Amino acid sequence: MESSYQVNNVDETWAVARQFAAELKPGDIVCLEGDLGSGKTTFTQGLAACLGAKRAVTSPTFCLVVEHPTEKFLLVHMDLYRLHGPDDVLTIGWEDYLARGAVLFVEWPDRAGDLIPANAWHLTFTLGETEESRTISIAR
Ligand SMILES: Nc1ncnc2c1ncn2[C@@H]1O[C@H](COP(=O)(O)OP(=O)(O)OP(=O)(O)O)[C@@H](O)[C@H]1O
Ligand SMILES: [Mg+2]
Repeated sequence: MESSYQVNNVDETWAVARQFAAELKPGDIVCLEGDLGSGKTTFTQGLAACLGAKRAVTSPTFCLVVEHPTEKFLLVHMDLYRLHGPDDVLTIGWEDYLARGAVLFVEWPDRAGDLIPANAWHLTFTLGETEESRTISIAR
């Protein structure tokens, strides 16, 4: 399954996030890929907010992992950029989160190697021609 959305601003990105949120189940892994500044973190913020997360999602770039309890599940936003491979990724609680039924949103998922299951979601963000336009592809 693959769908692609053209969005023109952050509000439209959040609308796609809201729609995608309805598809998620505990234990899902969502790989976020695409250009720098293309909206991976912004999308995750919108998704957490529409699920009733209490705290705004800050960029995990300097935190590695940010936990967002929502009304449906624990949403965990990870930025693996500074990690070197699956062994590193295991040390930040990957398996514990999954055992607890969390949903993992993962930037730089290549760092996780084989830990990414075949049924993971793959979201790809591409910059558009105007400052606020983006393409968001969702595949599973
Ligand atoms: N349609 C849009 N969707 C998402 N973000 C947008 C859009 N238009 C403009 N922006 C802006 O682009 C920036 C996207 O930054 P964000 O941190 O979400 O990107 P990122 O893909 O997570 O980047 P990085 O690879 O550095 O982690 C934000 O400043 C946001 O306000
Ligand atoms: Mg980001």
